[in-house]
Amino acid sequence: MKILIIGNGAREHALAWKFAQSKKVDSIFIIPGNGGTASIGTNIEADPMDFEALHSLIATRHIDLTVVGPEIPLSEGITDFLQEKGVKVFGPTRHGALVESSKSFSKGLMKKHGIPTADFTVFTDLTSALSHVRNQQFPLVIKADGLAAGKGVFICDTYETAEKALTDMLAGGIFGEAGKKVLVEKFLEGREVSVLALTDGYNLLPLIPVRDYKRICDGNIGLNTGGMGAIADHSLCDQEMHEKIMSRILRPAIDALRAEGINYRGVLYAGVLISNGEPYTLEFNCRFGDPETQVIMPLIENDLIDLMMGTLHSNLDKINITWRKGVALSVVAVSRGYPENFQKGQPITGLDTLSPDVLAFHGGTTLKNGELTVSGGRVINLVTVGESVEACRQKIYEEYKKVEFEKIFFRKDIGL
Ligand code: GLY
Repeated sequence: MKILIIGNGAREHALAWKFAQSKKVDSIFIIPGNGGTASIGTNIEADPMDFEALHSLIATRHIDLTVVGPEIPLSEGITDFLQEKGVKVFGPTRHGALVESSKSFSKGLMKKHGIPTADFTVFTDLTSALSHVRNQQFPLVIKADGLAAGKGVFICDTYETAEKALTDMLAGGIFGEAGKKVLVEKFLEGREVSVLALTDGYNLLPLIPVRDYKRICDGNIGLNTGGMGAIADHSLCDQEMHEKIMSRILRPAIDALRAEGINYRGVLYAGVLISNGEPYTLEFNCRFGDPETQVIMPLIENDLIDLMMGTLHSNLDKINITWRKGVALSVVAVSRGYPENFQKGQPITGLDTLSPDVLAFHGGTTLKNGELTVSGGRVINLVTVGESVEACRQKIYEEYKKVEFEKIFFRKDIGL
């Protein structure tokens, strides 16, 4: 089979790496890809948002399956467009992608169908939003309704910070249309876990739970990022908690989407907060997580083709996922300054000296004339599988001594 992956992050590199192990896969193309995917498949410089051009490329290259990594093309209807032309696509339609692209849709769905989540109110008008917030207890959470590249969530400890977030979005337009509607939510305290499940619209195949380390600095402080590291570990949720998450969150969500006329196929990602032994939905995403995918893929023993085709052929009930023993851990190296301003263009060295049991999934890298350079904020994910989180930590931090680029920065506490 010929596979096309859309995206340019470490998530897409991890998917390409997993596809490359399938006997059913002959060739892998990535649009636009990065320095890492270039060594597994063929990167194609094309605009993933130009659906017409994408379709002719799919036709001329005889692509059998197109896998969409990021949320933006999904929310713009890439799946609808390509499916209408008979292309097999992994990823939900535009309506399905609303679970991520509209927080008010997503929270409304949760409320209507009894899926546990924090209480919330939706505003489009600054005066009403401010007068509501004046009567609330702090901290509280303020969210942009639309996609804001992971920057649209504010945890506000005081009225002044809430006032600023609301004013910046509703009056200042910092996120454009995405911030013209906002949600004010009750803040819940607890521990977070990402539980992703493959789905054919009826059946759900849950993936191993993952903890994502979102803040830039050790101790989980500083700015929110796309993710600075992750662990995949079955013990993040005991069986009882896992059953609660499936029966109260993921199963009702798929049933709710179907009840709304949405046949959701692909992967549904639940960001869950566990508070006093009960799971609450923080958010749904319509795609694989990053860095979650980088720790999930190395643990899956099945052929990824069978899992993805199962979502399209409605036969996930016939498939069991078998998991490699152990846990996986990933530490992300960024160009210092990320998620704000950071340097690009500096050479990256040492990746060819890594131990064979360590994977390097590339995010913001470019390979040109044999030289690998930094081209994005989150540069490299070093990943390993081991018996314990501590064993993985030891391994990864030892291996990072070999990797160099100017302004390299990574958290030292991933897995703690
Ligand atoms: N790891 C968070 C996300 O993929 O949205």
